[in-house]
Amino acid sequence: MTKELFKGSILFGPVPAVLVTTINREGKVNVFTVGWTGVACSHPPLVTIAVRKERLSYDNIRATGEFVINLTTREMVKMTDFCGCRSGRTVDKIKHFGMELEPGSNIVVPSLKKSPVALECKVRSVTELGSHDLFVAEIVGNKVEKSLIDQNGTIQLGKAGLLAYCHGEYFSLSRQPLGTFGYSVARKSVRQARHQKKFAPRKVKK
Ligand SMILES: Cc1cc2nc3c(=O)[nH]c(=O)nc-3n(C[C@H](O)[C@H](O)[C@H](O)COP(=O)(O)O)c2cc1C
Repeated sequence: MTKELFKGSILFGPVPAVLVTTINREGKVNVFTVGWTGVACSHPPLVTIAVRKERLSYDNIRATGEFVINLTTREMVKMTDFCGCRSGRTVDKIKHFGMELEPGSNIVVPSLKKSPVALECKVRSVTELGSHDLFVAEIVGNKVEKSLIDQNGTIQLGKAGLLAYCHGEYFSLSRQPLGTFGYSVARKSVRQARHQKKFAPRKVKK
């Protein structure tokens, strides 16, 4: 490949475009789109979101210390774009799309029924970086759509048609994986089985 030089900027992708639900002190729920999100640590399970101070969602997260990361699918692409272009200060985005909410299990903030996976997060730290503040948060619980869990209890996230965002464009993941973890080095599938066992989320005992 022959490359051209550009100034330092965020030429990074694909990233997930997720819908983050928050709640204010009066109990009003808001939702906004986040592309600057990522995994920070496996144990404890920590994720990050980078949020501008002017967002309504910023105030809500600061007030409660909680938020939910709702993964998005191809069916949710329009609401994902809209929730990233309109503020809850001027429009009730939940009402606008008639979004159904599910009450939080470990936190007060509800999740979106339409989302196949909801990560319930509690803020651990906030770092001012410049345009955005970085929230590091612990995932205190996950909700997973039943139809994505196979007979062996394995979560088939690849079947959800998850959304990705890449340099201003939305894509959905193809149903056909190009490979699976460790396939390039595996002699047998033992390695993969071990990985799956190690990282499989454990169900909550009722
Ligand atoms: C694809 C996409 C990704 C976005 N990612 C972020 C992000 O990572 N952080 C952020 O502060 N705003 C991000 N935004 C912008 C906010 O979602 C947008 O300003 C929203 O209207 C804020 O809503 P609120 O004021 O109701 O919180 C993104 C927008 C889009 C369309």
